[in-house]
Amino acid sequence: MSRMPEESQPFFHVLHFEQLDSTNAWLRKMAAGGVPEGTVIWADRQTAGRGRHGRAWYSTGNWGLWFSMVLRPTFPSQNAGWLSIAAGVGVASSLHRLSGLGPESAVRPELKWPNDVLLGGRKVCGILCETSISGSALDWAVVGIGLNRLVPPEGFPEDIRLTAAALEEFVLESDMPSAQELVSSILAGVYGAYRRLSDGGADALRLQAEALMGSMLGKEVSCATPAGTLSGIAMGLDSHGALVLRDARGVEFSVNAGDVSLGTGRFIQEEL
Ligand code: BTN
Repeated sequence: MSRMPEESQPFFHVLHFEQLDSTNAWLRKMAAGGVPEGTVIWADRQTAGRGRHGRAWYSTGNWGLWFSMVLRPTFPSQNAGWLSIAAGVGVASSLHRLSGLGPESAVRPELKWPNDVLLGGRKVCGILCETSISGSALDWAVVGIGLNRLVPPEGFPEDIRLTAAALEEFVLESDMPSAQELVSSILAGVYGAYRRLSDGGADALRLQAEALMGSMLGKEVSCATPAGTLSGIAMGLDSHGALVLRDARGVEFSVNAGDVSLGTGRFIQEEL
């Protein structure tokens, strides 16, 4: 398979470790201490990998890619929601470039708003975006990416066995990108999406993101939020990257954060 060129020259400086507790936890401290935008921490193993909503992220071996980057966006904090969407778009575009998984292939990467990337309806990549905000300004954002490259030798743990995926399940062995190639390509993809967001605003990114959310848009979804479960037809993304739902009376409203599930069970509901 021929590989497509990278989107743009990355500006990242990567620090690679064998083992850390959590790359996000380390980089949060470093970001608060002033490290420049583009600093990346990559660990082969995490002893305390963190997921969204305080959940653990299974990353105790080097079957996957566990890394985080510091961004220092100049746009207002009300648009912070776009950062994890930009990361998801970057991951999907990288899987397309490196592994040919795109709009024309049988299995396409899908974005499960706000920050999961799915292959075959299962989660191959999770994104944890943590920010520090002063008033309307974003001081820093740490965007952590966990991508299952291989199936763990002992298989995925029982609680995620049905919902987790690994890239190797969808790519011929001869076409499998190395960990290094994937990290470089994902960083370039995220950089491209982040630059488009910073330079041109959210419109271009919204189109890309909504194209990757195709199997969810126009369908009845439930969204588990801290305030309770909200349901409606998924219409798209608003100007802040929030999910727009339309209720039974035709009234549209935005949801800023939550775990989405489709009534059909395509997106399997996660615990809050
Ligand atoms: C989620 O889907 O809940 C988000 C998972 C994010 C996992 C990555 S792995 C690298 C970085 N370090 C962490 O501790 N978490 C993120």
